[in-house]
Amino acid sequence: MSVSFQNLGRSFGTGANTHPVLRNVSFDVEAGEIVALLGPSGCGKSTLLRAVAGLDAPSTGAVTIAGRAVSGIDARCAVAFQEPRLLPWKSLAGNVAIGVPAAADAGRRRHVVANLLNLVGLSKFSGHRPREVSGGMAQRASLARALARNPGVLLLDEPFGALDALTRITMQDLLLDVHAAEPTTILLVTHDVDEALQLADRIILLGSDGSPEPGATIVRTVNVPGARPRDRASTELAELRSSLLSSLGVSGH
Ligand SMILES: Nc1ncnc2c1ncn2[C@@H]1O[C@H](COP(=O)(O)OP(=O)(O)O)[C@@H](O)[C@H]1O
Ligand SMILES: [Mg+2]
Repeated sequence: MSVSFQNLGRSFGTGANTHPVLRNVSFDVEAGEIVALLGPSGCGKSTLLRAVAGLDAPSTGAVTIAGRAVSGIDARCAVAFQEPRLLPWKSLAGNVAIGVPAAADAGRRRHVVANLLNLVGLSKFSGHRPREVSGGMAQRASLARALARNPGVLLLDEPFGALDALTRITMQDLLLDVHAAEPTTILLVTHDVDEALQLADRIILLGSDGSPEPGATIVRTVNVPGARPRDRASTELAELRSSLLSSLGVSGH
């Protein structure tokens, strides 16, 4: 499903304690597109995702999904976070089953769970509890749970940020496989420029644009060239990487 941000702004607090976080955020995401949101810590990336999911209401402007405004928790979205947030007393299959819409009958539920566990490579671990598997495996279960709703929009908030570098790359490849099999719209918040370059059709950089008005807004939009999976060592991506790092205020190497 397409997503449209229309002049979205969000402030927290009231009166003299008003703290503007986001202002004038406008962009459109096409159905099936993968857009990465990059920006310094605290600039409002999670707040932006929460507005799409209807977990937070913007102060100004609106978000629409497939042309219909988000108001309240939106069943068209699924969210996965940095921590897997699995229920410790349930098996991985039980946790994934939580994501399946309540209307599904038991047979349908089992079918969806088995397919998703297979998709994320966890079929052999369906009966394990979260504490019995690695962090990467728990995160795969969390991704499967999000996909179980068959969401029109998948919201990923630094989903691989807590994983070691090698597992992170495996998870990125897995996400691309999942997207190829089921091309849902993905909004991905990440700190990792390489992750954004590897996964996204488009990167949106949030931050301060130097205007006297407080709050973060879009400072740069980059269309990432090349079909996925992309060569992590390409010079074109290396140039984009240093240019993005310098936009983020970090010097490239
Ligand atoms: N519910 C809230 N109440 C008050 N302040 C909030 C709330 N949610 C987020 N903020 C503030 O908004 C800013 C942006 O937060 P967040 O969206 O989590 O940033 P990011 O994900 O980019 O690190 C932070 O300063 C944070 O303290
Ligand atoms: Mg955040």
